Amino acid sequence: MPNKIDFNKDYPSIRKSDEFYKTALKLIPSATQTLAKGPQQNVKGIAPKYLQRGKGSHVWDVDGNEYIDYNMGIGPLSLGYSYDKVDQAIKEQLKDGITFSLMHPLEVEVAEMIHEIIPNAEAIRYSKTGADATTAAIRVARAFTKREKVLCCGYHGWHDWYISVTDRNHGIPQAVQDLTYTFNYNDIQSVVDSIDENTAAVILEPFVFEAPKDDFLFKLRDTCTKNGTLLIFDEMWTGFRIALGGAQEFFNVKADLATFSKAIANGMPISVLTGRKDVMSVLEKEVFFYTTFGGEALSLAAAKATINELRDKNVPEYLSKQGRKLKDGYNSIAKELGMDYTKCIGYECRSLMTFDSSVGNPLEMKSLVQQEMIKHGILWGGFHNMSFSHSDDDVDYTLNVYKEVLPVLKKAVDEKNVKGYLKGEPVEPVFRKVGNFNTKPAKKQ
Ligand SMILES: Cc1ncc(COP(=O)(O)O)c(C=O)c1O
Repeated sequence: MPNKIDFNKDYPSIRKSDEFYKTALKLIPSATQTLAKGPQQNVKGIAPKYLQRGKGSHVWDVDGNEYIDYNMGIGPLSLGYSYDKVDQAIKEQLKDGITFSLMHPLEVEVAEMIHEIIPNAEAIRYSKTGADATTAAIRVARAFTKREKVLCCGYHGWHDWYISVTDRNHGIPQAVQDLTYTFNYNDIQSVVDSIDENTAAVILEPFVFEAPKDDFLFKLRDTCTKNGTLLIFDEMWTGFRIALGGAQEFFNVKADLATFSKAIANGMPISVLTGRKDVMSVLEKEVFFYTTFGGEALSLAAAKATINELRDKNVPEYLSKQGRKLKDGYNSIAKELGMDYTKCIGYECRSLMTFDSSVGNPLEMKSLVQQEMIKHGILWGGFHNMSFSHSDDDVDYTLNVYKEVLPVLKKAVDEKNVKGYLKGEPVEPVFRKVGNFNTKPAKKQ
């Protein structure tokens, strides 16, 4: 019998997951198409590897085990799995067609909606992935400024210009690697030290988990303006979540260009580049940014239905409300247990659990919590990626599970034996660090 979301269950059977994985290892290098969904991010031997179905905030793996999901497709499921209004819009569009030989009116309709909702979206273009949009933003910025260098400080996708700053930079020509550098979030001096007359763009996520301090975003805006550099917000996570209009609305800071993808279409693949009309006008002729599936209609129909729902139901407020209960709840349980080495941090729509290295290996601690959460039917990657389908029952149940799981971690830490409690291999680090993402600062001559 597959497990249900319940207390005092055993760890789920993942026999079918492991069968698929065994075949994948023979055919699919690294097994996964998305690092964050891959087996390295989940305790091997315990965590399911393949999901089959989802409804609302719940998912079912290929062995039939049910979980409450706090990963939510690594962001896109802003409303929830199999969300009726969006699915209906997709089905209606499917009757008419998916991809056409001329432009589709939905391109215009959705552009009008985005223009209305996103501050500064004077011009709008679509593509399919987040990396498409950030890469287009960089190319547009280079063409507009006639400069080449880029400064960044987070994750922006798999393309050459960005991945060159990470340790997964093989296959990228040195000439490309020499044009991108990093700065530290909330450290305006690190920007001032790196920016120069050849800097086309500064690109960043307006926040990841740490809030902007000391007017950082305003100072960044100012520094860019004074230097003739374009400011690009990568709003994959902040867009349509922190506020309907994203971080530009929430912080009242204007970026020159902004990119969106994850939350817009509740799981359908679409990304959006928005920004100043004069800057985006280079897309009329000078800059080439076209792709076969750019105006694909199912995703546009899903985007229209999703954006309408996000707006009509004031989803950002709901994410914040439910996320706050989880964040505050986690922190008060940890505090009561005297576990000052674990915290839930970040804005409520997407918070992160941290584990302090002073008491042990953070990845092992995270793995132990993940292992025990899975036992109680919660798919957990160290985040609360909130969706409109996370109900009060989900939140209450999850907090009760934390009350069971955190004492297990405490016992393991007290015994200095976290690894001993792990029933599988711990999760591995990704190159994407949360702080001190400064693999390649520019050195001024
Ligand atoms: C902030 C940010 N930018 C860009 C990307 C790249 O998006 P995609 O994976 O759709 O190419 C991601 C993906 O996780 C992201 O989190």
